[in-house]
Amino acid sequence: MPSRPHPLPGAALGLVLLLALGLPALGLPALGLPQVQVLEGGSARVPLMSGTPETPDPASPQVIAHRGASGHAPEHTLAAYDLAVRMGADFLEPDLQMTADGVLVAFHDATLDRTARGPSTYCTGPIRERTLAELRDCDVGSWFNERFPDRADPAFVGLRIPTLEELFQRYGASVRWYPETKNPDERLPGQPPMEEVLLDLLHAHDLRDPAVERGQVLIQSFSPASLRRLQELDPELPLVQLLRASDATPETVDAVLDAVAEYAVGVGPNRALVNEAFMDAARARGLVVHPWTVNDPVEMDRLLSFGVDGIFSDFPDVLGARIRAWAEAGDG
Ligand code: G3P
Ligand code: CA
Repeated sequence: MPSRPHPLPGAALGLVLLLALGLPALGLPALGLPQVQVLEGGSARVPLMSGTPETPDPASPQVIAHRGASGHAPEHTLAAYDLAVRMGADFLEPDLQMTADGVLVAFHDATLDRTARGPSTYCTGPIRERTLAELRDCDVGSWFNERFPDRADPAFVGLRIPTLEELFQRYGASVRWYPETKNPDERLPGQPPMEEVLLDLLHAHDLRDPAVERGQVLIQSFSPASLRRLQELDPELPLVQLLRASDATPETVDAVLDAVAEYAVGVGPNRALVNEAFMDAARARGLVVHPWTVNDPVEMDRLLSFGVDGIFSDFPDVLGARIRAWAEAGDG
């Protein structure tokens, strides 16, 4: 149990600064989305939720389901996303890769080899060299059973790579989204810019207006160029710059965050970067802080003690429990 209350003033100050700057009301939503209505089924439109997420609550750090509830089910599968919704995650995080024929799919790695099984002609090598039709033969569930026999489930065998459009069709505007542009600067000839395809899909699925204004969509990338392209296309989009552990040192953090604050409303640091000095530097620039990827409850507590605004985790249930513990300790 945490020994001291959650330091809300820092988080609240950050949000006040954001609002004062006229930025969208970024999510610091209360845990738990509207009542989940789970209807099992395939990739057709399946209403998992009713209504839209509540207005963000500045008092509660956000649970960001990293690749879905990927500690419990194979990452970036409908099983993992469904479970994240059931667990009350505040955001779903699809990593986005582009297929050879210009379709955005939820997939983390640049290559298929780690998580795809199936015909080697199609299910190995760089994903951006495969068409969507070729990827349909790839099984992205079986690897999980091989890697984590204690969490294996026969139902995971044969799960397919979902397109972003399928995810939007399945969960729509009833959840919050935190897509990441992966390898956005490595387009093949003829491929459209990833950012344009993403924006078109947001518009087509009621995830631009008024979803962005109500803090329902955040877009992240390790690529500053990708985020700047998004800003050019739509200056109102709330953007989050991801940082690797090597991207900042105590000596460079001020300069790094100065640059980020030019186009982003938040920063997604490797958890190793986060300490009081980092938080102070981010707060001074009005940046929200969403570290990744945190699965150890002790590390969750460390980060929550600094007043981070949300955390990426493969275990949204564990993170949700820690956040509730901090809230209860603060109430006491
Ligand atoms: O997007 C936050 C975190 O997911 C970044 O790392 O490699 O898991 O996408 P990665
Ligand atoms: Ca990611």
